[in-house]
Amino acid sequence: MTARRVVSGMRPTGALHLGHYHGVLKNWVALQREFECYFFVADWHALTTHYEDPSIIARSTWDMVVDWLAAGVDPDQCKLFIQSRVPEHAELHLLLSMVTPLGWLERVPTYKDQQEKLSERDLTMYGFLGYPVLQSADVLVYKAERVPVGEDQVAHLEVTREIARRFNHIYGTEPDFDAKAKAAVKQLGIKDGKRYQQLRKQWQEAGLPEALAAARELVEQNATLTRGDRDRLLGWIEGSSRTILVEPQPLLTKVSKMPGLDGQKMSKSYGNTIELRDTPKQVEDKIKKMPTDPARVRRTDPGDPAKCPVWPLHQIYSDATTQDWVQQGCRSAGIGCLECKKPVIEAINKELEPMRARAAEYEANPERVREVVESGCAAAREAARDTMEEVRAAMGLAYR
Ligand code: TRP
Ligand code: SF4
Repeated sequence: MTARRVVSGMRPTGALHLGHYHGVLKNWVALQREFECYFFVADWHALTTHYEDPSIIARSTWDMVVDWLAAGVDPDQCKLFIQSRVPEHAELHLLLSMVTPLGWLERVPTYKDQQEKLSERDLTMYGFLGYPVLQSADVLVYKAERVPVGEDQVAHLEVTREIARRFNHIYGTEPDFDAKAKAAVKQLGIKDGKRYQQLRKQWQEAGLPEALAAARELVEQNATLTRGDRDRLLGWIEGSSRTILVEPQPLLTKVSKMPGLDGQKMSKSYGNTIELRDTPKQVEDKIKKMPTDPARVRRTDPGDPAKCPVWPLHQIYSDATTQDWVQQGCRSAGIGCLECKKPVIEAINKELEPMRARAAEYEANPERVREVVESGCAAAREAARDTMEEVRAAMGLAYR
């Protein structure tokens, strides 16, 4: 077996900013060394909310790929592609929709929340309700084990696991499953077969999660098993059906929320962002315009960093010495606000500098970006096709 797979998508609804970098992209860059990563532009997902005016999707799609590359996502290590260019996502979405109860979808918290939040749009659409089914297809079609997501996506991933479980339960059962599984254990050889049995027992009787993980690893790392036997052995660890679709786990991003220019969380809808491709001058102007503690009307009025939106940026970007300097200087009116903002401007520009440089290279060479996506799409399709063959066969559609 190859390295473990990671899948994640991002909706193309505008330029990426520091919130995306600290919340998502830095994490992707770290994961790409350890996992086989599939990162894609979720343009179909964007359509679920932007179906009336999709122009922003077309405008943002390529820019988003450039932003990823600028942030350090490495096309030699990851597959970067566009969802709508891998039609297997759509086919799996359709097939999963056959076994997904409506109640599961209506219960997803984001379903009602988003309808209320985006009340200017009519989101009483079939596609919008099916958002988590499409997302499930995105992940399951690669049999990904890990999905890096924020807190807000955990409920979606929960649905994904439920759908995978239900699918395996309906389509993974076969007559004589136990006998076939036992025969598959023999294929592991004496030593691994024994260890598999031990781990399976430890999982089933004591519920040790390490045992489950170790048993899975043992099966996945065996290169000689047939696909059918591998799926049986994976399924037999836990139950009585083959594992056709793999239940993914979230990889929660640990980073704290990136504060925006006004103290709220950085978000395009609040208009408080620093974009990854802002120029040094734009960064400087935006920070200089930031509001500060309102008590500091004059330069001689002391302030309190706790009441100032610049302070959270110091907490991210400044070392302890600078932070002390801010605390003391602010409270004693020893420093002015512009002076205080200077290290933040410098730190952000330093962080963005390599990104600007990489972005400029790709902007000058759009052909290269096309190539990256082209080969990403091809690799993704290849992986997705394997799963679809199994899925079709399991659902009785093998006669085509
Ligand atoms: N729903 C995700 C978001 O809004 C985007 C997304 C679509 C995704 N498909 C996915 C994330 C698959 C992870 C895996 O952020
Ligand atoms: Fe904010 Fe710094 Fe001004 Fe204090 S000195 S109010 S922390 S900008």
